[in-house]
Amino acid sequence: MAITFFFLSILSLLQPTLAAFGITTVGNAFAVDTAGGLVFHVSKATGDITSLMYRGTQYQASDKQTQINSGLGASSVSSRMVGANYAVITVKSNGNPVTQYYIAKSGDSKIYMGTDIRGEVQPGELRFLARLRKGPLPNGVHHPSADNAGGTAIEGKDVFKVGSQTRCKFFSSTRFIDDVVHSIHGNNVSVSLIMPEGAYETASGGPFMRDINNQGTSDQQEFYYYMNSGHLRTEPWRMGFKGPYALSFSREDPNGKLDTSFFEKLNIPGYVPASGRGHVTGTASGVPLKFQTVLHWHNPQNQYWTYADKSGTFKSPAMKPGTYTMILYKQEYKVATSSVTVRAGASTSANIANAEKPYTPVWRVGEFDGQPFELKNGDRFLKMHPSDSRLSKWGGTFTVGTSSAKDFPMAIFGKEGGPATVNFSLNATNANGAFTLRVGTTLSFKGGRPQPKIGAWTPPPPKVPRDLNSRGITRGGYRGLGEVYDFAIPAGTLKAGPNTLTLGVAGTGDQGYLSANYIVDAVELIHGK
Ligand SMILES: *[C@@H]1O[C@H](CO)[C@@H](O)[C@H](O)[C@H]1NC(C)=O
Ligand SMILES: *[C@@H]1O[C@H](CO)[C@@H](O)[C@H](O)[C@H]1NC(C)=O
Ligand SMILES: *[C@@H]1O[C@H](CO)[C@@H](O)[C@H](O)[C@H]1NC(C)=O
Repeated sequence: MAITFFFLSILSLLQPTLAAFGITTVGNAFAVDTAGGLVFHVSKATGDITSLMYRGTQYQASDKQTQINSGLGASSVSSRMVGANYAVITVKSNGNPVTQYYIAKSGDSKIYMGTDIRGEVQPGELRFLARLRKGPLPNGVHHPSADNAGGTAIEGKDVFKVGSQTRCKFFSSTRFIDDVVHSIHGNNVSVSLIMPEGAYETASGGPFMRDINNQGTSDQQEFYYYMNSGHLRTEPWRMGFKGPYALSFSREDPNGKLDTSFFEKLNIPGYVPASGRGHVTGTASGVPLKFQTVLHWHNPQNQYWTYADKSGTFKSPAMKPGTYTMILYKQEYKVATSSVTVRAGASTSANIANAEKPYTPVWRVGEFDGQPFELKNGDRFLKMHPSDSRLSKWGGTFTVGTSSAKDFPMAIFGKEGGPATVNFSLNATNANGAFTLRVGTTLSFKGGRPQPKIGAWTPPPPKVPRDLNSRGITRGGYRGLGEVYDFAIPAGTLKAGPNTLTLGVAGTGDQGYLSANYIVDAVELIHGK
């Protein structure tokens, strides 16, 4: 007896902060103590999170709550325990086809979540938004790129200038394929959103979609997980259960290997456990090693992706059964498409090969890889507005043989920086015959598309590309529909000796950087048609 008592006393000395796990009521809120250092409150009226106490510090902002979108409004909010170790708060919106789940696991310091939508949510996008106090969390995602404190809005109420630097919440984004954990930090604390494998399966936009992760204001960190949005949207939204994902509190950044298999025990509609899923395995061949090899599967209900390893071997995430379009990308450039059917409990083998036909261009600027990063300003535009003084001057001349890709602008604007110019020389033999000028783009804004000119040759502008009706490069965006344009250059246009190509913009749009523009993937000249 005495020994047992002594032993228990030692245990309680070692773990002084552990409180009882469970759900109580405080005011008009459910209070969940995770017994892992985190206590959170969920309003019984709206389902908003109204308090986030972690190890004695309040992280929840006081004037705005943590919620789906900007709040689901009046909701039916209920709580239940599942066994002794799980607490589930269910928020069913009265006005929107949304059910949000907040789940705690005993001894953990995370809020596990799932978001189920059965129709479009007003005002037309879907995101989880934690509004946190900036005091204890001064450093945002990609800090300070998305911190607008003390700044002046210079475009659309969301791009700011702080001192000499431009800032924008879109500069906090990361490609979904890489966005497994994003964190904001304070002294000895990391608050993170964790999107483990499968979290994006009913989001939209594919592996290279990027969206807002964070905005720092004078007193708050707005901390986001975007599921559906209209930001450079390329495909319809998906409905259904989204997640699991988690808001995590810890001393150091968590990794993305989050075990959410316990959702199986929670009886949550729409959640599909591992036993109801299958895989696709195989080899992706023909993508040169200097590029990432990316596999993507999608249908109207679900989407998945993975990287292949250096030998091209891949295994998909655990997928829901169904028939999928399967795409192979060379970095972000689509090089093969096929179809594959996934069955629950089974692994389907499906190899895929790069379908590009090899050829040698007369010259090429950049790489056809679906990204503008190797071109001028391509290394910085993700976190800077094109007017930012830290960027190099737009426009410019690329001289074949002596210039590097960094001399060619990654974006060409109708009313800023002038056209891009390519100077090149041909000899009497290779100037003969017809040529093709190929211009690969990743994104078009306001109908912006290439308008080439060589001497007196100016072809009619290509047809107007589909407008995504969303700002692009001015918010660090580069991925759109990826139009590639082939212009037939008639024989006799190019001559022996020096030639000059200018690449301007056809399209309309506003003034300055909101004039019609396009983002360049690569440009090349090919002998023949
Ligand atoms: C950070 O946490 C460690 C471990 O709990 C503690 O020893 C240290 O004093 C803390 N540092 C600060 C600045 O709070
Ligand atoms: C490009 O070629 C044009 C026409 O030959 C010439 O005027 C211009 O100076 C050249 N630009 C550069 C940077 O060499
Ligand atoms: C002309 O240029 C082509 C391509 O660079 C080269 O293969 C060929 O040898 C050149 N011909 C002469 C006569 O210089």
